[in-house]
Amino acid sequence: MSQAAKIIIDTDPGQDDAVAILLALASPELEVIGITAVAGNVPLALTETNARKICELAGRPDIKVYSGAVRPLMRQLVTAEEVHGKTGLDGPDLPEPTMQLQKQYAVDYLVETLMAEPEGTITLCPLGPLTNIALALIKEPKIASRIKQIVLMGGGYFEQGNVTPSAEFNIYVDPHAADVVLKSGVPIVMMPLDVTHKALTTRARVEAIRAIGTPVGEATAALLDFFERYDEQKYGTDGGPLHDPCVIAWLLKPELFLGRDCNVTVETMSELTMGATVVDWWGTTGRPKNAKVMRDIDADGFFGLLTERLGRL
Ligand code: RIB
Ligand code: CA
Repeated sequence: MSQAAKIIIDTDPGQDDAVAILLALASPELEVIGITAVAGNVPLALTETNARKICELAGRPDIKVYSGAVRPLMRQLVTAEEVHGKTGLDGPDLPEPTMQLQKQYAVDYLVETLMAEPEGTITLCPLGPLTNIALALIKEPKIASRIKQIVLMGGGYFEQGNVTPSAEFNIYVDPHAADVVLKSGVPIVMMPLDVTHKALTTRARVEAIRAIGTPVGEATAALLDFFERYDEQKYGTDGGPLHDPCVIAWLLKPELFLGRDCNVTVETMSELTMGATVVDWWGTTGRPKNAKVMRDIDADGFFGLLTERLGRL
């Protein structure tokens, strides 16, 4: 086996973040060298705690978890307890973590690590608002040429938005951070709602995860049972979109996805369309193609991969 790919997961757990972290920790192709928490679905004090709860659920108290930005660059924090519950991980009753939070500020950890590791060896996997990533790029612009790639969940175009008619939550919460990242020149793979809305946690798929019959299988099914209810009611579908694990699945099996290189520009001026990701899918603007934008997924293949890997924990 070739050497594991080194990744840093930046996250706002969040049930779907939690499943993404479990998938990464279950996959030997990936080495999770650190997890950085950001304010998003719930406030930072909860996202950093939840990240540690998930590491312990996976039997990985050795993972280094760092706490980062407590609020977006310019705007006030918007959270999503209506989706994720007041803890951000409603569903299973997970014990309070005993593993320690790292003392170093997440943004300093990102800069220090990216400057120390060999150029082009670290992949960043943002699963929440991009505040930590933008702060690191602002603090030390030299990291931009050292980051191998950024594979992020965020944005939406054909599918419109989920928190407003035009904006997806991660980008809406911190559109200015998204602007910094999209203009950074770092190779970006973007998992927008256009693809994640095709990865639905149908009852059959959740029961296949529950049937793994382990504490991880049971907890994951309970996370999804809670998480999906909001979108099932909103969209009238069997199951809800499983957003964040698409990022990790792309690293493991990119052939599960279809997309194209496009220009993506984010709205940071108009309150009406704040956080909208304008995807030039037909190449009409001539603007630089700064992101590989995914639009289709082999959903059965995705859930088959996820279920098999969860069974390894
Ligand atoms: O819009 C979906 C995204 O917002 C996911 O990352 C979810 O966890 C929330 O952060
Ligand atoms: Ca998230």
